[in-house]
Amino acid sequence: MKAVAVFPGKREVRVIDDAPEPQLQSPTQVKVRTHEVGVCGTDKDIVSFTYGSPPPGLDYLILGHECLGEVIEVGSAVKGVQKGDLVVPRVRRPCPHAICTACRQGHPDYCITGDFTERGIKEAHGFCSEYFVEDVAYVHRVPSELRQVAVLTEPLTIAEKGLRQLGHIQERLPWRPAPGRAVVLGGGPVGLLGMLALIRRGFATTVYSHKRAPNPKEAIAGAVGAPYLSTQDVSAQELVRRVGAADVIYEATGVAKATVDVLGALAPNGVLILTGVPSHGEELTLDGAAVLKQLVLHNQVVSGTVNAAALDFDMALEDLSHFRATWPGAVERLLTGRHPPEAFVDVVNGKVSGGIKNVISFR
Ligand code: BGC
Repeated sequence: MKAVAVFPGKREVRVIDDAPEPQLQSPTQVKVRTHEVGVCGTDKDIVSFTYGSPPPGLDYLILGHECLGEVIEVGSAVKGVQKGDLVVPRVRRPCPHAICTACRQGHPDYCITGDFTERGIKEAHGFCSEYFVEDVAYVHRVPSELRQVAVLTEPLTIAEKGLRQLGHIQERLPWRPAPGRAVVLGGGPVGLLGMLALIRRGFATTVYSHKRAPNPKEAIAGAVGAPYLSTQDVSAQELVRRVGAADVIYEATGVAKATVDVLGALAPNGVLILTGVPSHGEELTLDGAAVLKQLVLHNQVVSGTVNAAALDFDMALEDLSHFRATWPGAVERLLTGRHPPEAFVDVVNGKVSGGIKNVISFR
């Protein structure tokens, strides 16, 4: 079958036509025909050979971890999913160690050993192939009306997990805080999906991103009523003057300087949620004492979050339905290009169309 694969040893990324077509190996598995695969910053790191690793014993890794597909075959013990259903798969699989409470509790997203695998990223083939096989426990059924946008489920789960943790963190306050103000740092897919989730939860949300308006990201923010400010024109101090200090800063850039610069906009008792994975060494001059003093004297929390669990996928699908009903067309506008598998490398390197979320289409 056709697949997009990276060969780290040879430093090659290409479409292969002879990847073995996977077959059901257990009665609880489903076979899925891939419809779409989203391309993201993690893929960029993998195709530049700075991240990711093939399954043990193989010299290549099939890429792709943001996926929408259609079930074409089900094992005899599969329940809850049938042939013809649309599904999205989760990314991370548990480590084997008895000491890892997180993995043993079904939460590899909190794995403590680091020996988890991630499909399309770490030691397990991804979904950027005509077919894949997965245990039914790791796929989520997608309502057919979400067909056009469900490839955005996985990036939205990053926001879902971050915001779920935010809820838990703020339970430390002796009263129930009103949602308050949020700043989304970064206008990429994870940022803009986080923006929609924050607005749905009642936060007065501002997008604070590098690119100056007008641009498509600012247009989407505008369509859902979120102010958009450029980090090039507006300092953190000015941001606070214009929209007020942020009870939540939701970071989705992976850029250390931008993140440190925005810290000054965090309100007392505020939470900074970090979702971006910095991809390369970035030197930074920082007044460490001032940063720590601010965190201590204002009861602030910095919380990193990676990957997502089953409940985040369920919530993401629920949110996608809600977003579409509330802001018709807004979610669709995040999907700025659909391309053939052969275009993967150009898409990942931003050589095709730019845009917000580009996907590889197998249909
Ligand atoms: C994926 C996560 C994954 C993380 C680290 C992200 O792009 O969305 O599922 O855990 O990369 O590999």
